[in-house]
Amino acid sequence: MTEKLAAWEKLSRNDKLLINMLHLIQEEQGYISRNRLAELAEKAEVPVSQLQGLVSFFNSFRTYPAGKHRISVCYGTACYAKGAPLINDRLVDELKLKDNIDTSSDGLVTLEHVYCVGACSRAPLIVVDGEISGKIKSHQVPLILESLRRKE
Ligand code: FES
Repeated sequence: MTEKLAAWEKLSRNDKLLINMLHLIQEEQGYISRNRLAELAEKAEVPVSQLQGLVSFFNSFRTYPAGKHRISVCYGTACYAKGAPLINDRLVDELKLKDNIDTSSDGLVTLEHVYCVGACSRAPLIVVDGEISGKIKSHQVPLILESLRRKE
């Protein structure tokens, strides 16, 4: 059993309901803003810090607006060992991001991390809008971004 699954099973019924509400907010808005978090805390009569704890624990939640395209760098063991940090650094540079997980200022790309998508033989890999691109080299990053820009 994974650590996250074990943690999920220990959550109270109330926390599970709150997580469902957070998922609904993210579906509607694309991310969970501070305002929506405060609104939910008030309606559910729980401290904002409780909701922030849930949001930060489950990495499926996003607290910043999503870009038109989503690139996830796999940081699982195999991908990490085969160069995921180099690919990530190149993406951060090319997109001029402030953090490792962020959205580019033009709204084109949101960069995220995943932790093993079960395709370790293709390491290092990235997932671009749901499609796996395996055995990626950092010098390919500009071409990948250019192809996304051409789609716009
Ligand atoms: S570690 Fe990246 S797919 Fe498994």
